[in-house]
Amino acid sequence: MTEHKQYPVRQTDRNLALELVRVTEAAAIAASHWIGHGDKNEADGAAVEAMRKAFDAVAIDGTVVIGEGEMDEAPMLFIGERVGAGGPAMDIAVDPLEGTSLTAKAGPNAMTTLALAERGKFLHAPDIYMDKIAVGGGLPPGVVNLDDSVANNLRNLALAKKVDIEDLMVCLLDRDRHEQLIAHSREAGARVMLISDGDVAAAIATALPESQIDLYMGAGGAPEGVLSAAALRCVGGQMQGRLLYENDEQIARVRSMGHADPKRCFAAHELAAGDVMFAATGVTTGPMLRGVKWSHGGAITHSIVMRSRSGTVRFIEGHHNLEKDRSAT
Ligand code: FBP
Repeated sequence: MTEHKQYPVRQTDRNLALELVRVTEAAAIAASHWIGHGDKNEADGAAVEAMRKAFDAVAIDGTVVIGEGEMDEAPMLFIGERVGAGGPAMDIAVDPLEGTSLTAKAGPNAMTTLALAERGKFLHAPDIYMDKIAVGGGLPPGVVNLDDSVANNLRNLALAKKVDIEDLMVCLLDRDRHEQLIAHSREAGARVMLISDGDVAAAIATALPESQIDLYMGAGGAPEGVLSAAALRCVGGQMQGRLLYENDEQIARVRSMGHADPKRCFAAHELAAGDVMFAATGVTTGPMLRGVKWSHGGAITHSIVMRSRSGTVRFIEGHHNLEKDRSAT
């Protein structure tokens, strides 16, 4: 008889991500009404409100640790807000609409995202920038390093992937602050893909077999960094991140969140530790997720749900009848 592996039964043995996908679906459906309407704040507001409401049906005692900002600047899903209907104590990282401008302009890759872990497992980070570097799975640990030169990182990645540097695609946000990284990547011979927004999708793309992206790097949002790390941990990718500061106030805020060394470089398992669950639903279509598709009285959503402990990745297509009772999704 086959011996089945026994896991200790814990509060989080239920794959809560399967419940959480309803939360990202609700946010994506709400945000999708604003696709192409040119108003990123309305799109974001709709996603936040729908996500906040959908959390009420999830059986967790959740605390938002990565959210829409501080309590005084965000009416909902602010850092420290309690969400959920009660249950195991969990920390939550949310980006209710990753790609607000993408949604407003009907650009690719906008999605609703969240990650969940036991208390204390996510890096507590305010909405400041983070320097990031990410690669996919199946590579030697430390193959790229935030503190190494672009040329060395590309050489090491090419060696590990058994390709030429010329075959590698580096993805960065198209920002002036990345001028040097872009120039150094091209000087080393790599191809450079510049995206207008959406670095969570870009970081995750390094781990997707069908993606063209081999390396993601550059400065983007710190909350997006924690969510990217959570997703990459589920699919075996690697990532490093270091918080970036524009003033002393930000350093003081980060210290007050419990960081003894605000300039530390964090690996993916420090940005998002323990058994992490990640869910995202496409708002607009990208290489990983299809956007929300509307038909008369209904919507079709496409989501990804992953868990680091099992490494299971699920794609879920939801057919939503919006004429029926939405509290029973
Ligand atoms: P929003 O969805 O909040 O607009 O963020 C989009 C995004 O492109 C992120 O993916 C990225 O981390 C961040 O903005 C970069 O910030 P900035 O636009 O200030 O360079």
